[in-house]
Amino acid sequence: MTASTADGLGDGSGEGARESARDGARGGATALRDAVREATHRLAGAGIASAPVDALVLAAHTLGVEVGEARRLLVLGGVQVPPGYAALVAERARRVPLQHLTGEAHFRGLTLRVGPGVFIPRPETETLVSLALTAVDEIICDGAASVVDLCVGSGAIALSLKAERPTLTVRAIEVDPLAHGWAVANRDRLGLDVAVDLGDARTAYPDLVGAVDVVTCNPPYIPDDQVPVDPEVRDHDPALALYGGSADGLALPLTMAARAAELLRPGGTLVMEHADVQGPGLLRALVATDAWSEAVDHADLTGRPRVVVARRKGATG
Ligand SMILES: C[S@@+](CC[C@H](N)C(=O)[O-])C[C@H]1O[C@@H](n2cnc3c(N)ncnc32)[C@H](O)[C@@H]1O
Repeated sequence: MTASTADGLGDGSGEGARESARDGARGGATALRDAVREATHRLAGAGIASAPVDALVLAAHTLGVEVGEARRLLVLGGVQVPPGYAALVAERARRVPLQHLTGEAHFRGLTLRVGPGVFIPRPETETLVSLALTAVDEIICDGAASVVDLCVGSGAIALSLKAERPTLTVRAIEVDPLAHGWAVANRDRLGLDVAVDLGDARTAYPDLVGAVDVVTCNPPYIPDDQVPVDPEVRDHDPALALYGGSADGLALPLTMAARAAELLRPGGTLVMEHADVQGPGLLRALVATDAWSEAVDHADLTGRPRVVVARRKGATG
């Protein structure tokens, strides 16, 4: 299947060409459709697997409409190429992340602003939020529970938890001032009552030691020598968000887990993301600390093990 048929826009010959001719007879009406088709080919040629979607999303962005509306306009015809579309397609072909070009990332029900200096939230982290909500719902008392999110980035986890369980008390911490700025801006724009602090998660919240119900954390976990292949990740996600600080990538995650063990009350829950190959090593290391009564690995929506849920040992072990 070619990229142009995958985008459902026709292939520029046969029926597609006849449509173009018909639209042309209506007065240059194929301009946008042709531009999106060309963009799809260009992005596919640049090695972008999601080329049809990206070409359409950039069209919607430059038109200032939802993607569904852009698709409808393509079908109807009669729309000219919006100014700026070609420039955005050229940027995307240079492998600038789509989310940097549109300025937003969709995560669960939220639209988060993102750009240079902050990690783009990933779909697999939505599984972490689901598991954290399950943990919260098990322990929630009088409608209230306290959550700390270590390594907040854009705010994806902390803001989702507050949006989906408004009675939670949520505090979140980020060490990178640039990323912290994005999280604060997202918090303010979404109007969510979450404390977003600038600081080192490894020593975070001494005032909360032994008092937190749930700690969430999507730490940097890529092994230090495994530089990502995708330019969007390698060249645009901040290094501070990626690398786990050791050959197996687990140094920072384990330091974050140790801080979580200090922050959690007995019986409290840690929910932490990891790379799919790190599950067994992470579980072994957690169990070896004797801080956890149980630790279970969970798969993301693609079936890959991605999130550890660990229960802090209680007074009775
Ligand atoms: C993988 S990103 C996750 C961001 C966000 N939670 C998400 O899931 O999309 C890791 C984040 O941890 C931050 N970080 C790295 N080391 C940290 C530290 N010692 N204390 C606090 N944040 C840290 C990075 O700057 C980055 O924003």
